[in-house]
Amino acid sequence: MPVQPRDISSIDRSSFAYIVEQNVSIPLKSSQGLVRCNVYRPKSEDNKCPVLVTYGPYGKDIPYKDFHAQSFSEVNQEHKSEHSAWETPDPGYWTSHGYAVVRADERGLGQSPGVLDTMSKGTSEAFFDVVEWSSEQPWSNGKVGLLGISYYAGSQWRVAALQPKGLAAIVPWEGMSDYYRDRCRHGGILSNAFIRFWWDRQVLSNQYGLPGRKARNWGPDTIEGDLTAEELEQNRRDQNVDNVENQFRDQPYYASKEYNLEDIRVPVLSVGNWGGILLHLRGNIEGFTYAGSKFKYLRFCVGRHDLPFYYHEQVEMQRSFLDAFLHGDDRVGWSVEGQVARVGLVLRKGDAGHNNPEAEKKFPTREEEEWPIPRTLYTRFYLTDQLGLINQKPAYKQTSKLTYKALGTLREPQLIQFTTAPMGKEVEITGHIVAHLNVSMNADIGGNVPTDIDLFLTLRHIGPSGREVFYTGTAGDPVPLCKGWQRVSLRKVNVDHHRHRPYLPYRDYFSNSVLPVLPGEVYPVDVEVWPTNVVLEPGAQLVLEISSGDTQGCGTFQHNSPVDRSDQKLAGKNNIHFGPKYVNHLTLPIIPPK
Ligand SMILES: *[C@@H]1O[C@H](CO)[C@@H](O)[C@H](O)[C@H]1NC(C)=O
Ligand SMILES: *[C@@H]1O[C@H](CO)[C@@H](O)[C@H](O)[C@H]1NC(C)=O
Repeated sequence: MPVQPRDISSIDRSSFAYIVEQNVSIPLKSSQGLVRCNVYRPKSEDNKCPVLVTYGPYGKDIPYKDFHAQSFSEVNQEHKSEHSAWETPDPGYWTSHGYAVVRADERGLGQSPGVLDTMSKGTSEAFFDVVEWSSEQPWSNGKVGLLGISYYAGSQWRVAALQPKGLAAIVPWEGMSDYYRDRCRHGGILSNAFIRFWWDRQVLSNQYGLPGRKARNWGPDTIEGDLTAEELEQNRRDQNVDNVENQFRDQPYYASKEYNLEDIRVPVLSVGNWGGILLHLRGNIEGFTYAGSKFKYLRFCVGRHDLPFYYHEQVEMQRSFLDAFLHGDDRVGWSVEGQVARVGLVLRKGDAGHNNPEAEKKFPTREEEEWPIPRTLYTRFYLTDQLGLINQKPAYKQTSKLTYKALGTLREPQLIQFTTAPMGKEVEITGHIVAHLNVSMNADIGGNVPTDIDLFLTLRHIGPSGREVFYTGTAGDPVPLCKGWQRVSLRKVNVDHHRHRPYLPYRDYFSNSVLPVLPGEVYPVDVEVWPTNVVLEPGAQLVLEISSGDTQGCGTFQHNSPVDRSDQKLAGKNNIHFGPKYVNHLTLPIIPPK
């Protein structure tokens, strides 16, 4: 349905402490149509102000309290206003500090017509137009900053790589940067369950033209009226469908979402959460590592996905960074080379329980000048057929293997655990982890012949008391230290790629990357385990868990697509081999004291 850009907005100067303009139309240059936004800006119009922009699916007009009442009730009071919205900066707070806030509905969602195609090239190009428009408004000082969590962070990398005019700084707060590796296909395995949950609850529910939104208390109905079910379907690309149908990065679906992080030139404050072990953490680290920006900073937080962004001290950091690059007020030296530490760590020492913000705030912090930490000692721990994880290379005279069933599920996990001896002294692990394994599979008696192996790895921390220490996951659930995944047919590593590192194997995941997996044949596989941090106290132990499916701590992020993980492909037995030639080890980034 062609929609003519028409400005149906009105300006409200009196009802709030700031000016509110709702439904402002932004004409798109990159494609047909328009995007609609709300503008919140300070009442005093003496000074032109910098602009914070968000562009995403969760409804510019859906109040936070309606989007997620429980979460909103726990948000820091300083960041609650009439116009609070999920995962975005609070207009009440930011306008009182001299910023304008532009909150746009992504194309195809809320009040923005057009094709709903989340995380696509086209939608990033519309975001580009929104950024440039924001820098050109009469009330704008020409400088635009991006600040938001999750979707509102992941989208920042992509638009910043397009270098829109006016963009001056980005703060991707828990924002993945690699659509294929971080979000959709972990080691090539489809991460389907979260995408399904997210799509149904948080995206589809706000499609442009969807009837009944107002009745469901999910923002107002669509300005131009409802669309029919057929029109709605024609107007969207469904991530669930596309991700099952496509497997490789060189297929147009995934290829179209690629970009080069080095094209990002503006200052970056990338904030990852150690507990974000199934979606965002990896992207914050890789985004920081490869951004082409002169000024780039990496910080870590812990706690739930929704709350730390609004903690007082975290907002102070966001504002001091943004003031430096958007307001010309650099109080700490973000814009002075060498002045502010590039990396700021939270050190997960001791047991703070999970979903306990007060206890977590007591974790120590430390600054470092680079990531990975330059003094890292990459240290091997060898797996043994006696289920140990030891410092010495085991001297086997014979071969042996440990066997577990393929296709484990969260409900019926199939796993093997390798455990270290209790630590004799304090040991800090911070950085990238890789596991080197020799694996094979074979069919069940009477079963069909499988063609692949899916490896699921988990690292667990057993405290000195003997109890496992859990950390706060995305939704406040208890999670282990970290996880890693690898589909064995996609084990091929591109050692010639400039991003290949001994501690982080680089895989192309192209259609021609596929290697055969035959029953009985033993394959060496290097499995990327996502980066983590922990300080193990004397007496603590580390567990490496190898399984054939999701295990404790995966939360809503299950990998259980019956298409991607079919019986046909995977059913049977999986084995880990030990012997004079079969050496299996876990390489851990141990950090010696400064
Ligand atoms: C913006 O559009 C919505 C949906 O039609 C409507 O409820 C709201 O009143 C509009 N706002 C203004 C200021 O016109
Ligand atoms: C076992 O795996 C390791 C690490 O991936 C590899 O170096 C070694 O060559 C493998 N052994 C065999 C016999 O393939």
